[in-house]
Amino acid sequence: MSAANNSGTVSEVGASQGRRDVSASDAVGRQARRDEVARPPSGARSEQSETAGPASGVPSEQSGTLSASGAGAPLLRISHLRKAYGSNVVLRDLSLDVPDHQCVALIGASGSGKSTLLRCINLLEVVEDGQIFLQGKDITDPRVDGDTVRTTVGIVFQSFNLFPHMTVLDNITLAPRRVHGVSRRAAEADGMAMLERVGLADKASAKPDELSGGQQQRVAIARALVGKPLLMLFDEVTSALDPELVGEVLDLLAELREDGMTMLVATHEMSFARQVADRVVFLADGEVAEQGSPQQIFEGPTDPRTQRFLRRILDGGRL
Ligand SMILES: Nc1ncnc2c1ncn2[C@@H]1O[C@H](COP(=O)(O)OP(=O)(O)OP(=O)(O)O)[C@@H](O)[C@H]1O
Ligand SMILES: [Mg+2]
Repeated sequence: MSAANNSGTVSEVGASQGRRDVSASDAVGRQARRDEVARPPSGARSEQSETAGPASGVPSEQSGTLSASGAGAPLLRISHLRKAYGSNVVLRDLSLDVPDHQCVALIGASGSGKSTLLRCINLLEVVEDGQIFLQGKDITDPRVDGDTVRTTVGIVFQSFNLFPHMTVLDNITLAPRRVHGVSRRAAEADGMAMLERVGLADKASAKPDELSGGQQQRVAIARALVGKPLLMLFDEVTSALDPELVGEVLDLLAELREDGMTMLVATHEMSFARQVADRVVFLADGEVAEQGSPQQIFEGPTDPRTQRFLRRILDGGRL
């Protein structure tokens, strides 16, 4: 599937989980990929049992309810989330489900809290109230280890944040090797597989500044994927890119969706939300103002706030 036609930039990583076997996702097909992305990280399980008990953020393979494909619970459930910065209440009562293997586009005006929400999910922010369930486990439980959750939930930001003095392959293998103790050989095999996945195997020895912005963002995505996250969060990953480079990154996101990756994508790229996403969620006033299929949201929005937002987008020629 081809993604949209406009712009963006990506960038950063989140989870790296180097202890598991890795294989290139495009080599195994969609169903295999689904199985693969559903597999919980091996390291997380022991950490859960040793330090955090059953409320730990990462699921146990032995619990049937935690299989990404079982039990009927969405991979991610956000329940009555509240997040404020001082007196600025950004998320006031936000509830949202992201089912397995769906691509959910998060849209809304600038300042509506899209990035804040993604950071809360990745436990980069402390929430005031509400809960976030990952595979049925409440990851807002204070006993949950954030690093463990971040091995399962990858995040990519607008800025690439690649180390300029390191090769592309070293950037990708750094976390598996340094954080997760994977051997260089195994990490490089995984890293090369992932570079092939994003179409950049020939750039493994290049330095980031020898790559285009779109290529750098694809490297950043590969860096997040090498940890085999169950869930990927993308925060305006094309917004720092020159317009002509946006398409290649959005196409990669569309391919990941085809592979069965579960994705929550904050974006101003309405064409992506419309053409690629399974569901579109519109944020306003600190809550989900409206959500539905792309067709529902773009062709028949019912909330006046959605209607106003889309009218502005239309008037700006961005839809
Ligand atoms: N670290 C922070 N400290 C204080 N306020 C913050 C912080 N991060 C975000 N905010 C505030 O939270 C609100 C939501 O910001 P956020 O970046 O989540 O919006 P957004 O929907 O991602 O916007 P954009 O579309 O421009 O990226 C804004 O009012 C912002 O000023
Ligand atoms: Mg943002």
